[in-house]
Amino acid sequence: MTKHADQREIPALFNVFENDFLIGAAVNPMTLQAQKEFINTHFNSLTSENNMKFENLQPEEGRFTFEQADELMAFAKQNGKTVRGHTLVWHNQTPQWVFQNKNGGRADRQLVLDRMKDHIDTVVGRYKGQIQSWDVVNEAVTDSGDRRLRESNWQETIGDDFMEKAFEYAHLADPDAELFYNDYNESDPEKREKIYTTVKELVEKDVPIHGIGLQAHWSLHHPTLDHIRAAIERYASLGLKLHITEMDVSVFAFDDKRTDLTAMTAEMAQQQIERYHQFFECFREYSDVISSVTFWGVADNYTWLDDFPVQGRKNWPLLFDQDLQPKESFWKLVNR
Ligand code: GLA
Repeated sequence: MTKHADQREIPALFNVFENDFLIGAAVNPMTLQAQKEFINTHFNSLTSENNMKFENLQPEEGRFTFEQADELMAFAKQNGKTVRGHTLVWHNQTPQWVFQNKNGGRADRQLVLDRMKDHIDTVVGRYKGQIQSWDVVNEAVTDSGDRRLRESNWQETIGDDFMEKAFEYAHLADPDAELFYNDYNESDPEKREKIYTTVKELVEKDVPIHGIGLQAHWSLHHPTLDHIRAAIERYASLGLKLHITEMDVSVFAFDDKRTDLTAMTAEMAQQQIERYHQFFECFREYSDVISSVTFWGVADNYTWLDDFPVQGRKNWPLLFDQDLQPKESFWKLVNR
């Protein structure tokens, strides 16, 4: 326990939920360095924000750069933290060389499969037994329209079975790791059904998949609690584990482009308290299927939402403020 500026005892966030699920944070070399103690105090699970992505781990063919991922693993080991691996196969942050042959043309299916397997063997193999769960495939499903799987280099070079291959390779590399499909807009009814069907097909083919990651990049306005519940129940009906993998609660609706604020309005702060409260009550209700809740960041002093979708605009989406002090949203979770 540490003390708040107003002398309230601050419980460790992960202790508040110790009977429910793990509480994680996405970290990067900067936050891990500057906020080591704070991270250690409040979180019992860690995800690398960027340093386990393909482009960071294998920028050129056969040249693996593990330094920063290794540092995170060492910190986790020292402090007894669980690690979620993020992420092996994704259409973003993957270098072009993966999909090119030696003449600069498009690589064929076999070459890309070989590279996928080699990457997964090397990365998952390196941390075998140390990473409890991996996001094996990230964001393969479209948000809207007739297509179910998005067009991506993976899908176009390998074909629609690229997902099952990724899961098979990951399972071979570490048979004890829990393997997840992870996506955003996961609570949107249209996309939910696409994710459900995609994962259901994998389960029916006996592909080694163990869970679905709900990214939970949410806001004060979206999605509704009913849609979140429906998504949890639908995914859980597949008999898989669920993780909340990238949670934040933006104070702006996605299409709100305002740039005039230097702090949350009182109304936003109030809504955020209420939203976080409802979300966690809901997670608790489903804690038999939800085993981990990870925030996409540590505190409001650094969040990817400071630049997205409006470049340079500050956002305040987490439970701790810019001085690493608990926000009222935190207290409401503690004193429920
Ligand atoms: C997606 C990815 C994350 C991260 C966020 C934005 O949700 O899964 O790795 O890149 O976008 O920061």
